[in-house]
Amino acid sequence: HSLKAHNTFGIEAKAKYYFEFTELEDLQVFLNSNKSWKEEKLIVLGEGSNILFMNDFDGLVIHPNVPGMNSVWEDRNHVWFEVGAGEVWDEFVEFVVNQGLGGAENLSLIPGKVGAAPVQNIGAYGQEVCRLIEKVKGFDLEKGCAVEFSATECGFAYRNSVFKNYLKNRFIITSVIMRMDKFPEFNLGYGQLEERVKEKGDVNLHNIREAVIEIRSSKLPDVKELGNAGSFFKNPVVDMALAEQIKSKYPEVPFYPGGEGKIKLAAGWLIEQAGWKGKRIGDAGVHEQQALVLVNYGNATGKEIYALSEAVCNSVEEKFGVTLEREVNCI
Ligand code: EPU
Repeated sequence: HSLKAHNTFGIEAKAKYYFEFTELEDLQVFLNSNKSWKEEKLIVLGEGSNILFMNDFDGLVIHPNVPGMNSVWEDRNHVWFEVGAGEVWDEFVEFVVNQGLGGAENLSLIPGKVGAAPVQNIGAYGQEVCRLIEKVKGFDLEKGCAVEFSATECGFAYRNSVFKNYLKNRFIITSVIMRMDKFPEFNLGYGQLEERVKEKGDVNLHNIREAVIEIRSSKLPDVKELGNAGSFFKNPVVDMALAEQIKSKYPEVPFYPGGEGKIKLAAGWLIEQAGWKGKRIGDAGVHEQQALVLVNYGNATGKEIYALSEAVCNSVEEKFGVTLEREVNCI
C-alpha cells in the first residue's frame, strides 16, 4: 500500500499492510481475524503530518478514521465534546469558534487529525491542547480492550505525552473529550498576536482565529504546495548557564521560560544563525521563512531529508553547544 498520500512530506514509501477503520468494533474484528497481527510491526497513522518515512514500512499501518463531533455534557461555564480521532483538527477549531466557544482558537490551522493532537500535545501561540483535554479514549493492543485516560494520566508536557512514550504503537486513540469555555479568556501574549488581532477590530474568537491563520500562513509552508511536517525539531530547553553564555555573544537571542532554572530557546533562531535558513541540498531544504521547518521540494527521499536534519543538528551543536531533538517521528 503506497503511503505517499498519507504523509505530508509527500515521501514515496510502502506499507506491507494497511488498515483503516471508522468504528472500534471493526478494529476489534480485524485484530481477532486469523492473521496474527501481534507479530507484525505496527504504526498508527493519522494524517501523517508529523512523520518522515526513511524506508518502506515492513508491517501494519493502522489509520483510525472515527468520525463525530458531539457535545456530551454541559454546565454553566463549559461544553464538553467527544471528537472522533478521524476528524480534521482545524475543522473542530472552526466548529467551536463558530459556536462562540473558546479554548482552541490559538490552535487554528494546525495540520493533522484530532487523534494525533494529544500524542504530541499540539501547541501554538501560548496555548497547548492539553489544557482542553478531559479524557482520551482508545484501544490498548497489549491488553486487547478499550481504555480511557484522564488528562493527568496522559502525562502531558511540551510536545510530549504517554502516547509518544510507553504507549507508542500500542495504544490506538479513537476519540478525545475536550472541554470548551462559554466565557473564553483570550490568550494574546505570544509574539505579535495581540497587535494582529487588534488590527482586525474587536478582540473576539473569530478575529483571533483569523490572525493566527494569517501568521501561520505567512511563515509556514502549505503542505499542498510544499511537502513538510511543520517544526522538524523541538525548541530545546537548556540550563540557564548555557543560555546566558549564548546571550553574552548574541544579545538578541530569543528566550522563553523553560521551567525551574531552565530556558527554552527557539530552534528556528539557532538554525538560522547557523546559516541554514533557505538552504537546499537536492530536493531537501530548510524553509525560507521558518528555519525550523524542513521541506521536500519534490522528489526528496526520506533518507535525504533525514541527512539534512543531521547536518543541521551537527552545526547547531558545534556553534552553540545545544543538542536539537527531532520532533517529527522518523521511521
Ligand atoms: N526565528 C528565527 N528564525 C527562524 C524562525 C524563528 O529567528 O527561521 C525566531 C523568531 O523570530 C522568534 C522565535 O524564533 O523570535 C520563535 O519563532 P516562532 O514564533 O515562529 O515560533 P517557533 O518557536 O519557531 C513554535 C512551535 C510552532 C508554533 C509556533 C507558534 C515548536 C517546535 N514549534 O515555533 O509549532 O506554531 O511556536 O506558537 O514548538 C509545529 O509544532 O509544527 C509548529 C509549527
